[in-house]
Amino acid sequence: MTQAPLSGRKILLIVGGGIAAYKALELVRLLKKAGSEVRTVLTAAGAEFVTPMSLAALTGQPVRQDLFLPEDETAMGHIELSRWADLVVVAPATAGLIAKAANGLADDLASTTLLATDKRVLLAPAMNVRMWEHPAVRANVERLKGFDGFHGAAVVGPDEGEMACGEFGPGRMAEPAAILAAIEGLLAGPGGRPLAERHAVVTAGPTFEPIDPVRGLTNRSSGKQGYAIAEALAALGAKVTLVSGPVALAAPAGVERVWVETAREMQAAVDAALNSEDGAADIAVMSAAVADWRVDGVASGKIKKAPGGPPSLSLIENPDILAGVSAAGKTRPKLVVGFAAETTDLEANARAKLSRKGCDWIVGNDVSEAVFGEESNTVTLFTRGGEAERWPRQSKAEVARKLAARIADHFRA
Ligand code: C5P
Repeated sequence: MTQAPLSGRKILLIVGGGIAAYKALELVRLLKKAGSEVRTVLTAAGAEFVTPMSLAALTGQPVRQDLFLPEDETAMGHIELSRWADLVVVAPATAGLIAKAANGLADDLASTTLLATDKRVLLAPAMNVRMWEHPAVRANVERLKGFDGFHGAAVVGPDEGEMACGEFGPGRMAEPAAILAAIEGLLAGPGGRPLAERHAVVTAGPTFEPIDPVRGLTNRSSGKQGYAIAEALAALGAKVTLVSGPVALAAPAGVERVWVETAREMQAAVDAALNSEDGAADIAVMSAAVADWRVDGVASGKIKKAPGGPPSLSLIENPDILAGVSAAGKTRPKLVVGFAAETTDLEANARAKLSRKGCDWIVGNDVSEAVFGEESNTVTLFTRGGEAERWPRQSKAEVARKLAARIADHFRA
């Protein structure tokens, strides 16, 4: 699937304090035009040069300025914000911000975000030429670049020319178009879209098994975890088909959603996606809460309350979609991931499910704590022959990103 490199990508822009901050507004405009989603952090010094209002108007998002603001933290915590991004861009990157990041100093929102992010950081330095040439600044920049493997920073600019302070030399912030090109390069380059060319099929939500035209059997799955997984896989470049039961969620950008209601419809949609004209899928993540049973002989009209007492329902077993997808065959995806929601003996039950269903990984989900409809989740990843990986309780979006990153590593290996 070819896609514009910035379409649907998430950029967190940190605007530092410098006269070049006005160019950050143009950068936001270019990023938005290229189809990316932009959120901004404005430092206290940055706010001396551009107003939060202009950034909010251009991004269509609230601007984050404070580390300790309950309203901001309830909308999206600062750690979450640093992970939400596909790339963090600092423009202008002042000598002060660079020094903080290079030394792990975290005393405001921008520096804390730079320390907390698990994504690459692009710096667009802007400062007086003497400052830029100072060995302390050079050393800090080299240090940041060298944190490779730990998300080493990339640097664009600075340009040479006449500076606002009247001196001449390197120190002017790179032009917005050049920063945009650097962003595109980083997101398209190795590591940017590790799942490009991969096709993933994800199931999500509950199924609904009709009893009669107005009633049915269903469950409390909200679909949030599966939708987040579809979104995270798409963010890493995968072509994603999301086969969804009835939920009240918007389809993530760039994801093809197929609505289904019953388990058998879900199975048919999954089969169709696995045998699509672009060939077999590479990845299947079956997170749907498929009803185990359906009603045998769905009534064609509404069943009436009758004096003889309630009707009895006869149930028959639904097909196991995960087991079917996992069965060897030419359309078996290279990686099949199932879910196991358990209230007791998570490890034993998840491992048993791994072999019974024939899938490669199981995401074990402890549902003894509140999970359905919640924003966060506690999961353990079980792989064949591997140690159980217990992940701390974290947001469903974070679980999804971590799982997508593990999937990308699996294909890289
Ligand atoms: O057997 P159990 O329902 O606990 O297994 C859960 C896993 O199997 C989940 O990945 C779920 O999506 C999948 N499943 C399925 N089809 C079914 C039942 C479960 O794909 N009929």
